Amino acid sequence: MGAFEYHEGRLSVEGVPLARIAEEVGTPVFVYSRAAFTGALADLDAAFADRRRLICYSVKTCANLSLLRLAAEGGFGADIVSGGELFKALKAGVAPGKVVFSGVGKTEREMAEALAAGIMMFNVESAAELEVLSRVAGQSGRRAPVALRVNPAVDPQTHPYIATGLQTSKFGVPHDEAPALYLRAAADPHLRVVGLDCHIGSQLTSVAPFAAAAERLRALALELRQAGINLEYLDLGGGLGICYNAEEPPTAAAYAAALRPVLDSLPELTVVLEPGRRVSGPSGVLLVKVLYNKSNGPRRFVVVDGAMNDLIRPSLYGAYHAIRPALESDRPMEVTDVVGPICESGDFLARERHLPQVAPGDILAVMDAGAYCYAMSSNYNARPRAAEVLAENGSFRVIRLRETYEDLIRGETA
Ligand code: LLP
Repeated sequence: MGAFEYHEGRLSVEGVPLARIAEEVGTPVFVYSRAAFTGALADLDAAFADRRRLICYSVKTCANLSLLRLAAEGGFGADIVSGGELFKALKAGVAPGKVVFSGVGKTEREMAEALAAGIMMFNVESAAELEVLSRVAGQSGRRAPVALRVNPAVDPQTHPYIATGLQTSKFGVPHDEAPALYLRAAADPHLRVVGLDCHIGSQLTSVAPFAAAAERLRALALELRQAGINLEYLDLGGGLGICYNAEEPPTAAAYAAALRPVLDSLPELTVVLEPGRRVSGPSGVLLVKVLYNKSNGPRRFVVVDGAMNDLIRPSLYGAYHAIRPALESDRPMEVTDVVGPICESGDFLARERHLPQVAPGDILAVMDAGAYCYAMSSNYNARPRAAEVLAENGSFRVIRLRETYEDLIRGETA
């Protein structure tokens, strides 16, 4: 059962009807379930309970401090890709020694900040980056703990924009160039080789690509051992998919089972995982309010007060998010697009959906909106960003205020 279900006809989370949250906080508003968020982290952790492991929540998916704090309180780490994410993770109480830093374009400033914080590991993505990191570490008098992010060249069979482990993607170091780069890193007095890393893509719905990538990393880890380089961490990235529509993603247990042959043959390594979507995705929804019904020719539109600036995934990736009315309805069904007020035809939340007829003022929930939704939101069309709410155990609280018009001009000069 999901975190958002109907009770007595009202779509609810943690015992709170979503319509009540919409009424008290206004719309558009993102609502997260504490139990769903912490439960997903615990579920993954439990699947790897028989070995040394560290689950690093991928901050980029949803970086609200209250959610980061939940991860921190659970003893989990953070997967970051910028100085801003480091700042937020540390503010929320994530232990610096549980932070992994990925990304193809780390700046010197970001490296220096992460070194000063004492993070667990830099996942280095190129020879050029390794050189700069060595220099920055030398200047700061610290040895930088490094892993190479290796591109295992496996096809994750996902949307091309979010496939990262293909031979042609910008990420990581080519598999066959990794050994030489490791030898260089191991000989560098400013670097300490600690790990091996990959991340092949996002929203994977089968375990086979994960297993194939892990197998390639295992071969590399053994080759490095032969060369006298002993690792501490094997970081297999994130990428575990969720069900937006009819996908059947693997359970955490099936995921762990698929990796087991590789992990069992490397018992001395701590496995690091960087799950994002799997944790935050199903933990959140976006609530929007119906403004108008209209038809243009044969096409029907429900115009709502949430838009592509709030939730860009349908516009950007053609992504599917289910839409559910906050109040169960027995009105006749119709086929309709759900669109926002933004001046672009690409501004839609759903297309050609069978939905019960709605009226102005009705609240709709855009489901599975916890990952990459608020995080990718913008002020396009000078729209203040939505509020965020955390529901927990029968009550709820605002964890980020709705932006105001004043927020829209902060820092600007007329
Ligand atoms: N680790 C690294 C190095 C990553 O690049 C990513 C995601 C993750 C972990 C977390 O992956 P997850 O477990 O969430 O699949 N905006 C797109 C997704 C972009 C994914 C970027 N990297 C979307 O809305 O689908």
